[in-house]
Amino acid sequence: MVGKDCYAVFGYPIKHSKSPRIHQLFAEQTQQVIEYTAQEIPAERFGESVKAFFSQGGKGLNCTLPLKELAWAFADITTKRAELSKAVNTLLIQDDDRILGDNTDGCGLITDLTINHGISLEASRILILGAGGACRGILAPILERSPRQLILANRTRQKASDLAAEFCLFGDVEGSGFAELKGQQFDLIINATSASLNDELPPLEDDILAKDGVCYDLAYGNRPTAFVRWGVEQKAKKSLDGLGMLVEQAAEAFFLWRKIRPQTQPVIDVLNAARRFVSEVKGE
Ligand code: ATR
Repeated sequence: MVGKDCYAVFGYPIKHSKSPRIHQLFAEQTQQVIEYTAQEIPAERFGESVKAFFSQGGKGLNCTLPLKELAWAFADITTKRAELSKAVNTLLIQDDDRILGDNTDGCGLITDLTINHGISLEASRILILGAGGACRGILAPILERSPRQLILANRTRQKASDLAAEFCLFGDVEGSGFAELKGQQFDLIINATSASLNDELPPLEDDILAKDGVCYDLAYGNRPTAFVRWGVEQKAKKSLDGLGMLVEQAAEAFFLWRKIRPQTQPVIDVLNAARRFVSEVKGE
């Protein structure tokens, strides 16, 4: 549309994406005039679709599953945090027409944990579940906060050890299998596995969460994930899903594109109210 700067999120599937709503709310709040659409793009059409989007005047793109690694490979230049994640969730066109790839996921998580929920990473014994792409994206920013302890636990132990070795320059981090966690306790457990997508739970002992500990699932939905429900059963001080991280990573992308930082809490509140409504109507 003439006069509006165009943005979009590419993913597959993309129907339930909350990004258009989030960015529209940011735009209204900051009095920006933008158009933000969600586009279902299969991996094999990713490159041509990005090129078409930018050649038609598009200003910036978000990329979500399963396109983040492709976006990283596609970008002409990448930020350090994108390089470390080997994944890109934000693309923007520069003045010289080169496409810059960044990854705002890790900093979105840190902001949600530390600013929105007042959790001190420095003081925490942290356990991350999973050793795939989602874990890789959050490792460096967590290690930069020098947590008291950081362990990665994965079903396939070797993947956790390999990832820990790759990031050891950023701080102390250890790879582990699930069975080896017996007897240990953590103040913060972050679920970076894809188990929640199938409403499954990683194998966790009942006494693994310390008193007043916090659970955080990177996944989110209209109803609590299996891991969030587990955290509630374990009497976690907070058992959170990744909705706050979603809004915070979006705010960081919005800032990269528009050079203005929106307030996130009002948007988190709107999305929380909307999903309560959806789950009540659907009886979930
Ligand atoms: P992502 O990019 O979302 O991290 P991924 O690279 O496919 O996705 O990795 C998925 C992660 O979730 C892996 O760590 C996987 O464990 P394995 O490496 O052993 O396969 C983990 N995972 C998936 N389902 C799980 C389950 N039901 N229980 C425990 N871990 C699970």
